[in-house]
Amino acid sequence: MGKILEMIDIYKSFGSVSVLNRIDFSVEKGEVRALLGANGAGKSTLMKVIGGVHSQTKGRVLLNGKEINFKNPHHSKESGISVIYQELSLVPTLTVVENIFLGREFTNGIFVNKKAMLKEYENVCNEFDFNINPYTITSKLSIANQQMIEIMKAISANSDIIIMDEPTTSLTNNEKESLFKIISKLKSMNKTIIYISHILEEVFRVCDSASIMKNGEMIGTYKVSDLTKLKITQLMTGNENHEIIEAKDYCYARYDEDPILQAKNLRTSKVKDVSFDIYKGEIVGLAGLVGSRRTEIINILFGIDKKEGGEILLNNKKVNIASPKEAISNKIGLIPEDRKNLGLILDHAIYTNSAAVQIDRFKNGIFVSKNKEIEFSEGGVESLGIKVNSVKQDVKELSGGNQQKVVVSKWLEKDLDLIIYDEPTKGIDIAAKEDIFKTVEKFAKTGIGVIFISSDLEEVIRISDRILVVREGAIVDELKNDGITVQDIMNSIFNVH
Ligand SMILES: Nc1ncnc2c1ncn2[C@@H]1O[C@H](COP(=O)(O)OP(=O)(O)OP(=O)(O)O)[C@@H](O)[C@H]1O
Ligand SMILES: [Mg+2]
Repeated sequence: MGKILEMIDIYKSFGSVSVLNRIDFSVEKGEVRALLGANGAGKSTLMKVIGGVHSQTKGRVLLNGKEINFKNPHHSKESGISVIYQELSLVPTLTVVENIFLGREFTNGIFVNKKAMLKEYENVCNEFDFNINPYTITSKLSIANQQMIEIMKAISANSDIIIMDEPTTSLTNNEKESLFKIISKLKSMNKTIIYISHILEEVFRVCDSASIMKNGEMIGTYKVSDLTKLKITQLMTGNENHEIIEAKDYCYARYDEDPILQAKNLRTSKVKDVSFDIYKGEIVGLAGLVGSRRTEIINILFGIDKKEGGEILLNNKKVNIASPKEAISNKIGLIPEDRKNLGLILDHAIYTNSAAVQIDRFKNGIFVSKNKEIEFSEGGVESLGIKVNSVKQDVKELSGGNQQKVVVSKWLEKDLDLIIYDEPTKGIDIAAKEDIFKTVEKFAKTGIGVIFISSDLEEVIRISDRILVVREGAIVDELKNDGITVQDIMNSIFNVH
């Protein structure tokens, strides 16, 4: 065996803020190592040191026993390291094959050798059972396929160490299975994989060992066979008595009043004649496979997709919602699945992001009061436990999970009739999920109707009063949440009765 990579006594600070402290971390050839920790623990930052994105403030890195200081991402790649970042880094306007070979194009003298690259692409596709047209413009691909392209890019670079930072967040179950196959194949080729995820089932499935971080420190490295879900949560949070999922003990649905929302025969090219009601204070889960078009249904309600038929009634009144702006003025809120494009402006401060959807509240006369925005934002940071140094920081400086929490915080205290959560716990650590659930409970308690989409069915059962099952853009079943199990929902999703 032998260690391929060793990080010794690593420190990293941004300005006066220290993010990594005294980290020792090493991996062997052919090992699949999980890197775990709560949101903001420092996982991505540690990997960015190996990826040549950040240089450590202090400490040494050895690659194959030789000291090395990665000067930039290119240097790291040349040294045999590929990183698939949490925030995808493909160029949207390039084709698939151009992205895969970006920065290491095959050439004939000075000319780019397209043929050779296509051949190589085909080889990798065959070997790893991929099939995505090499000429597709990357932005036209689904997020899941873009994630697959990132993975393929790392594979085709033939790196010795492949780092995957939350690689499955947008993948369907089938795509996850392909990824797991790829990982075992890479392992059999004696490659080293470092795998970051908040989904512990995946860790038990594919990893040999796990390193656990907490608050910028390395707690330790364990064999996966010596760990349990509970043990990992305890190590991550330092809390001995941590309960992973609390049972829901409330229902605020006002079934004796008229529904707050009535969707009647909604139709688009992807949504087939969908009708449902939501009552005041009711939490309705939408369950379905990734790709079942749950998001397409709620996109109609939020004015993102134009409906081709049907009507929407709020408080018994027909409303016309042709844009997100109109949705918001009709008291509908959305926490979108695609937070990078729809939920946040990364180059702006946390507080301007948090204040964005209810700006009127923060006005003194005609001017927006920065202090009021800051005060509101700090309230959200406090109640959701968002890890920040100051709300004046740019959102892009936050860890992935903490960015997600900022998206949720925008809607707190807003006067709403309906709020939609679309995969809100993506990238959220298991302990922090409870903070998101608490916001759902709070909204429901004040009479707001909630639509909750999650691919984690345990979570859907944990939170919903009623569950609508979605298949191919249609609602195919309705389940009352009175002791039903994940298996019951699965049966309905797959139409097994
Ligand atoms: N460029 C930066 N400037 C300032 N602080 C930063 C910067 N990048 C990261 N941080 C801080 O470093 C800490 C660790 O962040 P990191 O992204 O490594 O967390 P993580 O473990 O990957 O979390 P997650 O599970 O949420 O992705 C966070 O508090 C984050 O705000
Ligand atoms: Mg991260």
